[in-house]
Amino acid sequence: MALNATMRAAALVGAYNVSIIDLPIPLIQDTTDAIVHVTASAICGSDLHYYHQGLGTPEQPIPIGHEAMGYIESIGNAVQNVHVGDYVVIPDNVDDGHFNFGPELPISYGPQLGGCQAEYVRVPFADDSLIPVPVNASTDPSTLMDYLFVSDIFATGWTVLDFAGFQPGDTVAVFGAGPVGLLAAYSAMLRGASKVYSVDHVQARLGLAESIGAIPINFNQSDPVEQILAHEPGGVTRSVDCVGYEAVNAQGQIELGVVLRNMMDVTSDYGGIGVVGVYLGDEQTSMSMTQFWRKALTMGSGIVLPLQHATELVNLIANGRASPSFIVSSTIGIEDVPEYYRRFDQHLETKVVIQFD
Ligand SMILES: *[C@@H]1O[C@H](CO)[C@@H](O)[C@H](O)[C@H]1NC(C)=O
Ligand SMILES: *[C@@H]1O[C@H](CO)[C@@H](O)[C@H](O)[C@H]1NC(C)=O
Ligand SMILES: *[C@@H]1O[C@H](CO)[C@@H](O)[C@H](O)[C@H]1NC(C)=O
Ligand SMILES: [Zn+2]
Repeated sequence: MALNATMRAAALVGAYNVSIIDLPIPLIQDTTDAIVHVTASAICGSDLHYYHQGLGTPEQPIPIGHEAMGYIESIGNAVQNVHVGDYVVIPDNVDDGHFNFGPELPISYGPQLGGCQAEYVRVPFADDSLIPVPVNASTDPSTLMDYLFVSDIFATGWTVLDFAGFQPGDTVAVFGAGPVGLLAAYSAMLRGASKVYSVDHVQARLGLAESIGAIPINFNQSDPVEQILAHEPGGVTRSVDCVGYEAVNAQGQIELGVVLRNMMDVTSDYGGIGVVGVYLGDEQTSMSMTQFWRKALTMGSGIVLPLQHATELVNLIANGRASPSFIVSSTIGIEDVPEYYRRFDQHLETKVVIQFD
């Protein structure tokens, strides 16, 4: 690779404003680094949080994106487990040997480490922070996209069920039928749920949920809790929040905590609640502790580390048992990314994948 070579990359230059810019192709900085030549990347709901916040300026663009896969272009001298040419998924956070929870979240791509919506990505701690996948240049594009989602949303949809204490046979209410919610519903079906309810207000998303066997619940029509309780008089045994702090009510207004309150109402005694929707706002969220205690509920939440379930999810895809790419609504080139942020933000897209030559 020529010195001073540049690549095309997506970057935030202000609120609701993504720009495609030239950036230097990243180089090995530490002996434990790898440089990945990206073949596919994706736009995620968490990118939209930054998009809304208005990070970056035209003078100081902030590279974005944290879901990608590709093949290894080069490695540092200390890298042993992966080799130049290997196909790998880049999980959205890095294993630096001590994953953190709490105030210090794990190191992740995007504003912190450089964006993955770019032709090349530098991966620190490459031996532990990459997920090898059994593909090559002749693998069909839909299988490649299946693996791409192990980087974040498939792992997140899978893990939120663990947070809720999921067991086969459970009934599950999934709040949010965006990409993560759809893959949580899909994971619940794969893992033997007896019934899955998918709650949203965007018709296209509810249609996809129905296509994988979930029961669509449109909260615009009436109270989602009442709709689910009409099917499950005692409540569902698990409910999961795949929405987070930007949740809206039936009037389309942001109503902080609405999903948490719905989950408390719709979950049966001794049931479990899982939360992977992001809560980054400073607002306090109210829910009834008395209800929580009287129902003897349990609750799990947090950031998901895709590396924890990587082998399991890669094997499911390799064996043809899972194909999470059913959520993809558009496959685009890097220059189209600004327009597709707009479309994704307006719920005109379910999931957008960026393909590179
Ligand atoms: C995005 O920022 C660029 C650079 O400042 C500006 O030219 C463009 O009009 C902005 N676009 C939107 C949609 O705000
Ligand atoms: C790609 O992988 C498939 C399946 O593992 C294998 O059959 C095929 O020979 C490989 N092709 C190349 C070009 O390596
Ligand atoms: C539900 O209401 C919101 C806000 O009023 C609207 O944007 C959305 O299109 C509606 N969805 C359905 C499925 O009616
Ligand atoms: Zn993501």
